[in-house]
Amino acid sequence: MSAITHYLCNFKFLLFFFFFFLLHPILPTSTSQPITSSHSRPHPLFPCTPPHHSLYPFCNTSLPTSLRAQTLISLLTLPEKLLQLGTNASAVPRLGIPPYYWWSESLHGINANGPGVNFLGPIPAATNFPQVILTAAGFNRSLWRSVAAAIAVEGRAMYNVRQAGLTFWAPNINVFRDPRWGRGQETPGEDPVVTAAFAVEFVEGFQEVGERRRGGAVGGKRMLMGAGDGDGMMLSACCKHYTAYDLESWGGFTRYNFNAVVTEQDMQDTYQPPFRSCIQQGKASCLMCSYNAVNGVPACAQGDLLQQARNDWGFKGYITSDCDAVATIFEDQNYTKTPEDAVAVALKAGMDINCGSYLNRHIQSAINQGKVQEEDIDRALLNLFSVQIRLGLFDGDPIKGQFGMLGPQDVCTSEHKKLALEAARQGIVLLKNDRKFLPLNKHRVSSLAIVGPMANTTALGGGYSGVPCSPNSIFDAFSAYAKKTSHAAGCLDGVPCTSNAGFMEAVSIAKEADFVIIVAGLDLSQETEDRDRYSLLLPGFQKALVTTIAAVSEKPLVLVLTGGGPLDVSFAEGDPRIASILWIGYPGEAGGKALAEVIFGDYNPGGRLPVTWYPESFTRIPMTDMNMRADPSRGYPGRTYRFYTGPRIYDFGQGLSYTNYTYNLLSAPSKLSLLGSIKAGSENNMQHKNGYDELDYIHIDDVEFCGSLIFHVQVLVTNKGDMDGSHVVMLFSRVPKNFKGAPERQLIGFDRVHTVSYGSTETRIMVDPCEHLSIVNELGKRVLPLGDHTLMLLNLEHIVSIER
Ligand SMILES: *[C@@H]1O[C@H](CO)[C@@H](O)[C@H](O)[C@H]1NC(C)=O
Ligand SMILES: *[C@@H]1O[C@H](CO)[C@@H](O)[C@H](O)[C@H]1NC(C)=O
Ligand SMILES: *[C@@H]1O[C@H](CO)[C@@H](O)[C@H](O)[C@H]1NC(C)=O
Ligand SMILES: *[C@@H]1O[C@H](CO)[C@@H](O)[C@H](O)[C@H]1NC(C)=O
Ligand SMILES: *[C@@H]1O[C@H](CO)[C@@H](O)[C@H](O)[C@H]1NC(C)=O
Ligand SMILES: *[C@@H]1O[C@H](CO)[C@@H](O)[C@H](O)[C@H]1NC(C)=O
Repeated sequence: MSAITHYLCNFKFLLFFFFFFLLHPILPTSTSQPITSSHSRPHPLFPCTPPHHSLYPFCNTSLPTSLRAQTLISLLTLPEKLLQLGTNASAVPRLGIPPYYWWSESLHGINANGPGVNFLGPIPAATNFPQVILTAAGFNRSLWRSVAAAIAVEGRAMYNVRQAGLTFWAPNINVFRDPRWGRGQETPGEDPVVTAAFAVEFVEGFQEVGERRRGGAVGGKRMLMGAGDGDGMMLSACCKHYTAYDLESWGGFTRYNFNAVVTEQDMQDTYQPPFRSCIQQGKASCLMCSYNAVNGVPACAQGDLLQQARNDWGFKGYITSDCDAVATIFEDQNYTKTPEDAVAVALKAGMDINCGSYLNRHIQSAINQGKVQEEDIDRALLNLFSVQIRLGLFDGDPIKGQFGMLGPQDVCTSEHKKLALEAARQGIVLLKNDRKFLPLNKHRVSSLAIVGPMANTTALGGGYSGVPCSPNSIFDAFSAYAKKTSHAAGCLDGVPCTSNAGFMEAVSIAKEADFVIIVAGLDLSQETEDRDRYSLLLPGFQKALVTTIAAVSEKPLVLVLTGGGPLDVSFAEGDPRIASILWIGYPGEAGGKALAEVIFGDYNPGGRLPVTWYPESFTRIPMTDMNMRADPSRGYPGRTYRFYTGPRIYDFGQGLSYTNYTYNLLSAPSKLSLLGSIKAGSENNMQHKNGYDELDYIHIDDVEFCGSLIFHVQVLVTNKGDMDGSHVVMLFSRVPKNFKGAPERQLIGFDRVHTVSYGSTETRIMVDPCEHLSIVNELGKRVLPLGDHTLMLLNLEHIVSIER
């Protein structure tokens, strides 16, 4: 989502205003009451206000949600219905319904990228958590859930003071397929299992009400479930962008006109799983279709894919287009001959609302031309109103509702700020640490030079940041630690670093300091919405800055890298004058403090890279090639740790600690028998030997009791060092040899465990063979290979043999 930038740099923005403000009041309406009657009679603040507007059946909380939604639809005229189909849904004054703005944003804190949010009222700021890629690097499910729950409390508090809506468009769960992608920072990384797990925690933590939310309390008070269906939500989260969206602007292609050509195999084992989990397990109430086409059909016109979400995954919610993604069906994808056809094809496919005003402008003529029927509109409205009803929008005064006590006192609380700090601590990744150079002993550091273009900025949140509660730079944070701290940017124009004119000043402070820390890397000038990178190297003169300082500094230096996308820093990895390298992503408002704590040993780093760091040579691969699997015949190396066959700078899952951990495998089965688990009558499907070089496998659809095959891998983690620490256990698996198209290895489970110095902690990782040990074949079907599967924990391997 999206795209204020799209509006700004696009003439659609002008059209939007032209139509909205000039034509909107004179849109044909069949009612005697003009839409603009609100001038004389102010809108009520909320629907169902007593005494006159609270008696409609759609206000009756004892009725089921869908019935309430249906009765509301039945009371609307066609022109009133049509004005509900854009982001800025119009008021229906005669029914006491105020306008509703659908687009609010909450990716890693409430932010104003969606115009539904503003910071102009009693709440001037909101907690700025680390950008998602860094929070993901903590590999801690309960952290992910806590962050989402805290964001939701702030969102609902902002709604109560009319500074936000109830429908938020996060999380971004597209797989980080290409290291150049400008929005990879917004995602949990390149692995579909991690991305799916993040999606579930985020959506549940964000939407849920009642018992499960922090022990059933918000703001210290117990919350009650609303009446009705028990399907209430605190806020609505949105799985975006569906699907195969991960290119902004590269090589003449834009996200608006790009056609992602995706094999059925990649679709089913890479692009779709996060969306399936987000909906099936997370029970998200919104799905956003993306700008790009998938195999020739624009995503918002993909009836099969949109219906799959409802029919196969049990989706209950509304489907929104990305902003102006109905316009792009016609204007950029050239998929239809007229705007009316674009509107029709999206509605018929199952999209319910368009972000923007395109439907408002073209739907009446689409109806006149017989391309859209009123029942298409009623179907969309049923989904839209049902979500609003579940959110309590039609339950009367929100301040009297179950979340009504949330307000300014629940935003930027010390608890939330601590959680932002905790998320940054847990995510920071230590990539290099020669001869235990770090941690620095704070009692022995007399002076510190903090150099580099990212050292003295408070813009540490990455894309989709709001106004932070307590903005602090990295330099500010270190000043609180060391007695004498100096700073020089080195790059006078910041991250682009187009000249070395600032080097002299940096050199002079570096020479005088006891220790030097360089904070370099990326910011939104290099990677963001509508902007992909072309290179994986440090921008401009940044590398020269690092090597220049390394040459003059008395001791080896510490290199801190910012940004969401991988960097080729092989020069630094191989340079002994650079003792340590840390990656901090976009660490959010408390990121400076978290970094100082790590560097001075107050926190033992345990984050792991959620993406592969490729060498610069990777950029010869067209970004437009969606294939995950390597193809040696055309020199294609594949993508992500699962399939990439080339050299890497750092691997997925890489991350050091100040201590060492060892594993003991306490228990895992050696054999699994499918006997009794195969569906009766599928015996003839048992011999699937042709497609896979005489190898044996079984379709998971033919396994009757997947649940009976579930086992746990029990591991003892021992901390062999003299610092306490938390450590991420990652369990990978590899299928029996020679299965064509199988991943090199696949993460099947992970857990972050805390272990005291020289102590041990036990963990259990659940393995569901149907899901975790299966692979997707070329037809897009999941099959479970029979034979020896290898489970891997670091260098420890264990064979599980699956037999009939
Ligand atoms: C709300 O619906 C219930 C169930 O149908 C009904 O008994 C009750 O009278 C309704 N309340 C109002 C105010 O109409
Ligand atoms: C929504 O439309 C109303 C007019 O109907 C306008 O006053 C308001 O500013 C619009 N809101 C946004 C966020 O565009
Ligand atoms: C769509 O049509 C426009 C105008 O006819 C043309 O400039 C553009 O290249 C076409 N785009 C695609 C993706 O075919
Ligand atoms: C850091 O940035 C702030 C705000 O731009 C500026 O006022 C301050 O002088 C800078 N500090 C240093 C040490 O350069
Ligand atoms: C961890 O163990 C390895 C191999 O035994 C050793 O080289 C390294 O120095 C140890 N690291 C720490 C932080 O103790
Ligand atoms: C996981 O995150 C939670 C929430 O911040 C925290 O309390 C817990 O200590 C973390 N677990 C580990 C092992 O770091």
